[in-house]
Amino acid sequence: MTTRRLFFALWPDQTLRQALIQRRASLEARFQKPVPDRNLHLTLLFLGNQPAERLDEIEAAANAIRSPAFELQLDRFGWFERARVVWLGGAAPKAGCSLVKALEQGMRGLGLNFDRRPWGPHVTLFRKVSEGRNLPPVAALTWPASEFALIESIPSRPYQVLRTWALD
Ligand code: 2AM
Repeated sequence: MTTRRLFFALWPDQTLRQALIQRRASLEARFQKPVPDRNLHLTLLFLGNQPAERLDEIEAAANAIRSPAFELQLDRFGWFERARVVWLGGAAPKAGCSLVKALEQGMRGLGLNFDRRPWGPHVTLFRKVSEGRNLPPVAALTWPASEFALIESIPSRPYQVLRTWALD
């Protein structure tokens, strides 16, 4: 069976991407494996490997979502010890949580299997970090989320935006 590795995310525009790159730069003396510029994103729902032939249904279910636009404040660096990633993240606004919930319900409605962690808005900046304690404060970054995207991850290629949907 052909599968495709998929996730829903907020995809930064050029201005936001530059702002993320600038925040990441402040930690570059300490961590060696930065996420490539063009891959920076904020995951909403990770689907993982799904049967390729379900892609149309996944898109149709996303079409049906009506959710308001919202703003994220990314105001702290953090480290996930298990995943070994250093990130820029912040609190989860209500409208962001309802979007994630709508995505999750839509995908469950298709009978797709995926493991779901509670949504903690974060942009991974570095990988393979075995020690990430004592991170410095960071200037808060406001992310106006007006659309969400379906992204495909193919090994050793940049992430590919398959489609985007506007928020209301
Ligand atoms: P990460 O950045 O914290 O590693 C593509 O792999 C995106 O999906 C990444 O942002 C990654 O989060 C996230 N991701 C990968 N596996 C996941 C999982 N099992 N559950 C939730 N998110 C996951």
